[in-house]
Amino acid sequence: MNATAAVAAAVVPAAGRGERLGPGAPKALRELGGVPLLVHAVRALARSRAVGLVVVAAPADGVAEVVGLLDSHGLDGKDVRVVAGGATRQESVRLGLAAIPAEVEIVLVHDAARPLVPVEVVDAVAAAVRAGAEAVVPAVPLADTVKRVEPNPGAPEPVLDTPDRATLRAVQTPQGFRRGTLAEVHAKALTEEAGGGLPPVTDDAGLVERFGGRVVVVPGHEEAFKVTRPLDLVLAEAVLARRRASDAY
Ligand code: CTP
Ligand code: MG
Repeated sequence: MNATAAVAAAVVPAAGRGERLGPGAPKALRELGGVPLLVHAVRALARSRAVGLVVVAAPADGVAEVVGLLDSHGLDGKDVRVVAGGATRQESVRLGLAAIPAEVEIVLVHDAARPLVPVEVVDAVAAAVRAGAEAVVPAVPLADTVKRVEPNPGAPEPVLDTPDRATLRAVQTPQGFRRGTLAEVHAKALTEEAGGGLPPVTDDAGLVERFGGRVVVVPGHEEAFKVTRPLDLVLAEAVLARRRASDAY
């Protein structure tokens, strides 16, 4: 393995609209502590010595804006590139992955919407791939009990069953992969989709599972939560304020 191969590249899907966050700019460009979520997320990756390159999949009509934004914020001298994202998260990841040089062997995929992931999580995921896992996800135990229902929006929904909470994990990003594994499952999913196959997945490890690969979990972190709804932004502001008060963040 040469030096380039040992260093991971990261893909950051950032092309979503952020519908659940409510009206406003695309979610990745919404601000947290005066800095766009995307910039926080890219900085969080760039802080890791395991990451040498970050490829951002931006909203297709916002590539120039995102390039300007990233240029105007210091990013620890890491190589950051921007490509146009797609209509689904899965497509955005595939387009980002295609922009990673062939010699890179470890790829992390990290949501722009997880601005506060601690560098320890990034390092742990990359280390687990380096140690031989083909797919690694950070995850945390669930606080709530979960029930499976028959979806029936607007009416009481019948409960089917209650999975044992001790066996459940809420998964986060960055998820880490052998590059060959990730490229292969994305290519297979594309072929399948063209034949009217299964719907896109909401995380990349899900694709590895779909095609029979082995995925392992490492500990995630409560601060790696995804900004999805307005309350998440309130929580993120509080976490950031606490960090800024306690260290030179
Ligand atoms: N994403 C993407 N391309 C898409 C859709 C989503 O790159 N076509 C990215 C988002 O920008 C986000 C990550 O995937 O960083 C996780 O998706 P999610 O939290 O669902 O974000 P949005 O799709 O933007 O939000 P919503 O589903 O509420 O519209
Ligand atoms: Mg979405």
